[in-house]
Amino acid sequence: MKHGFRPDVVGSEGWFYSEKVKDHFFNPRNIFKNKAEAKKYKADGVGQVGSPACGDIMRIWIKVDKKTDRIKECKFQTFGCASAIASTSMLTVMVTEKKGMKLENALKLAPKDIMNRLGGLPERKVHCSVLGDKALREAINDYFRKTKQFDRITEKETKIIDKALKITNKDIEEAVLEGAKTFEDIQKRTKIGISDKNCIPEAKKLIKYYKEKHFGKN
Ligand code: FES
Repeated sequence: MKHGFRPDVVGSEGWFYSEKVKDHFFNPRNIFKNKAEAKKYKADGVGQVGSPACGDIMRIWIKVDKKTDRIKECKFQTFGCASAIASTSMLTVMVTEKKGMKLENALKLAPKDIMNRLGGLPERKVHCSVLGDKALREAINDYFRKTKQFDRITEKETKIIDKALKITNKDIEEAVLEGAKTFEDIQKRTKIGISDKNCIPEAKKLIKYYKEKHFGKN
């Protein structure tokens, strides 16, 4: 796949990378440099996700202070692009600074929080910033499973929206997180509403809701 960091086009329209993005890309914090480093690491929870948009993979390891319920350490490794590296590097800083973030707050982190700290990302790279927080949620759930805190595992509530193709609200959320903005974008990816036309109004409402939830009102 095509990876997107283009120092030659930094600053040109649509491809602006902030100084913070460049800093976190050239000097990523909390990244494992190789497999051996990652293998030696004794984590309390591990999470991995892949991006349907580009096929890249993100893995996150966490250590948790069991008494305070805060994240003590957060490491990552990815085959993703510069934006994925920079945004996940920032994510690891955000969850470990100031004595570590409480797990309940870390679970609420959204891509827009990371992008605010980074000073933005080019629009077409937003989907790369989603990998880190999704992998973090997986790592926290893994920690809950390993410590038998089953009631704290965040199961995703799923509802079928398109009855013909069994497309769920989670499929729509996923598509929005991967950069789809309009009903037409989502239809291109999922074929939603082609056979089951009755689902279109609800699907449109959900797209609006997930866009606001993850990326704010504008
Ligand atoms: S293009 Fe794949 S993570 Fe950015």
